[in-house]
Amino acid sequence: QIPVFTTIQDYRSWREKAFECKKTVGFVPTMGALHDGHLSLVQRSLVENELTVVSIFVNPTQFAPHEDLATYPHTLSQDLSLLSALRYRPLTPSDLLRTPSAVFLPSVKDIYPSGVSQDLSQQKGTFVEVKGYGEQMEGRSRPSFFRGVTTVVTKLFNIIQPTNAYFGQKDIQQALLLRRLVGDLHLSHPTPSRLHIIPTARDPTDGLALSSRNTYLSPAERQRAPAFYAALQSAARVWKTGASKREAIRHALELLEVAKKEGEKYGVEIRTDYVEMNDPDTFEELGDEQVQRPDGSPVILSGAVWFGRTRLIDNIILGNT
Ligand code: PAJ
Repeated sequence: QIPVFTTIQDYRSWREKAFECKKTVGFVPTMGALHDGHLSLVQRSLVENELTVVSIFVNPTQFAPHEDLATYPHTLSQDLSLLSALRYRPLTPSDLLRTPSAVFLPSVKDIYPSGVSQDLSQQKGTFVEVKGYGEQMEGRSRPSFFRGVTTVVTKLFNIIQPTNAYFGQKDIQQALLLRRLVGDLHLSHPTPSRLHIIPTARDPTDGLALSSRNTYLSPAERQRAPAFYAALQSAARVWKTGASKREAIRHALELLEVAKKEGEKYGVEIRTDYVEMNDPDTFEELGDEQVQRPDGSPVILSGAVWFGRTRLIDNIILGNT
């Protein structure tokens, strides 16, 4: 059984011992309801670190009042058995078989000693905000979401004291924003010395990006959901042939319109929130006439689409990564 620490104090005594033994600690922050996407991050951490810590904490400050905090899936015992089943055998025979070393499962009260208020104007206490980068893409549709993420991850870094931290490309803006936070706040060894971005894990049969929120989809919605990634892939192909951003995006939107009409036949409501192409450094939207840059410098093609009451996000990084 993996040790589960529910208090900061208990975790810290464990971490102290790891410091004394000079062990590297990889960290994978999650909100639980683990799937193969999360597990691919843990697997990567097992390969690159002697010890691996996974946190499970459904962070209230990153949910807007109308969002799904109350219904967010909780599957703790399943999460713990999925983690217990993971292992990595290092090539050097002297090194022991590695499995996740600890799960950090804090309470809202411990993480937010100054309290949490659903009404942002009433919120007291310390928040961490990366200004100028959280208002585009996901930030435009979900204002204050990133403030919740950057605040909780700063707190978690301070508690966990990881050598390496692992985030998914699935939430690309989140990962890049956190990289900026680490740089801006001069967080360094061990909090964390490196932030790694791991490719999006997808359903092997239809390409749908794995997400804890996929469990909200009805069977009919689930069946139509892969149309989203297919539309992004198709726009990526158009862009690579030399088309402008406007044409590539129009292509994706047209495909999503076809999916919407098709969905109506099955009683599935599909609504596109946005499909955009943005610069990975500034998150600024590309100009309409922008074509693939000759140096192949990267661009994020991303979007959010509602399938019924479930909002899915996905992205493709175009160019050199
Ligand atoms: P959560 O949605 O549980 O995701 C935890 C981590 O798993 C994130 O880094 C996310 O990008 C990654 N992930 C999710 N789906 C993935 C997929 N299909 N392939 C690869 N990685 C995937 O993201 C959060 O939680 C929270 O915002 C958190 C960072 C924990 C802060 O509360």
